[in-house]
Amino acid sequence: MLTTTRAAVIAVVNQKGGVGKTTTAINLGAALAELDHPVLLVDLDPQANTTSGLGLDPARLRHSIYQLLAGEATVEEAMVETAVPHLSLVPSHIDLAGAEIELAMLDERETRLRKAFQEIPAGVECVIIDCPPSLGLLTLNALTAATAMLIPTQCEYFALEGLRHLLYTHQLVRSRLNPKLEVAGILMTQFDSRTTLSWDVLEEVRRTHPTHVLKTLIPRNVRISEAPSHGKPVIQHDPASRGAAAYRALAKELLER
Ligand SMILES: Nc1ncnc2c1ncn2[C@@H]1O[C@H](COP(=O)(O)OP(=O)(O)OP(=O)(O)O)[C@@H](O)[C@H]1O
Ligand SMILES: [Mg+2]
Repeated sequence: MLTTTRAAVIAVVNQKGGVGKTTTAINLGAALAELDHPVLLVDLDPQANTTSGLGLDPARLRHSIYQLLAGEATVEEAMVETAVPHLSLVPSHIDLAGAEIELAMLDERETRLRKAFQEIPAGVECVIIDCPPSLGLLTLNALTAATAMLIPTQCEYFALEGLRHLLYTHQLVRSRLNPKLEVAGILMTQFDSRTTLSWDVLEEVRRTHPTHVLKTLIPRNVRISEAPSHGKPVIQHDPASRGAAAYRALAKELLER
């Protein structure tokens, strides 16, 4: 059964690479699903890390996000179940690497994902989009389709500069393409409480963006980084780890926000 979506659509976005977008998409998705909120993950990155991190082989799946953007498949046709109850996925495919250029030549190039999301299968409460590390057309499609952006930020020196640029993009998208786009929050990732740098960056980001920084801090945790090689989210790989606790806390914080 299909419905016009009332699901929250969260774009996990940061143009900087390696800050924890994919890790957050997978583990936030799994933690929300564990709380009985059905989640649809959308892998919008040609690297297909969300797809392979959940133990699926992008090359062996029939449909992908590529067909969705091309208007050749619906969400229902493109989505697959994962090994996590209540967590489904629209996978990515390496073909998506060319999509940025192909999209540029299509009509309504920024709104193709939003159009595809007009029909989300009934029961899905939350869609989480894992974006590539750029602010190109794929990410623009995510921001146009989303109700909120979640911004994982690594506790490092250049974080603030990237945030300024991203929040400027938020304003641009709001004024031109999607007036409803909110900021779900800035999520500090790979936080290492033993280093002064982590604390200094946290303090500075809190000072400059007081309303946006989330309470939950994601610690640097080896269980988080090894979970994808087992094709699992951290809450399944090691349910008692600090990483699992942090992503569960994040899910609760976002549900309360
Ligand atoms: N909290 C954490 N603790 C330890 N390792 C982490 C943590 N978060 C992410 N990592 C590791 O850091 C690397 C980058 O994370 P991830 O792939 O989630 O970033 P990304 O922003 O999606 O990268 P890209 O921009 O390339 O898509 C991965 O190897 C991941 O396992
Ligand atoms: Mg990624």
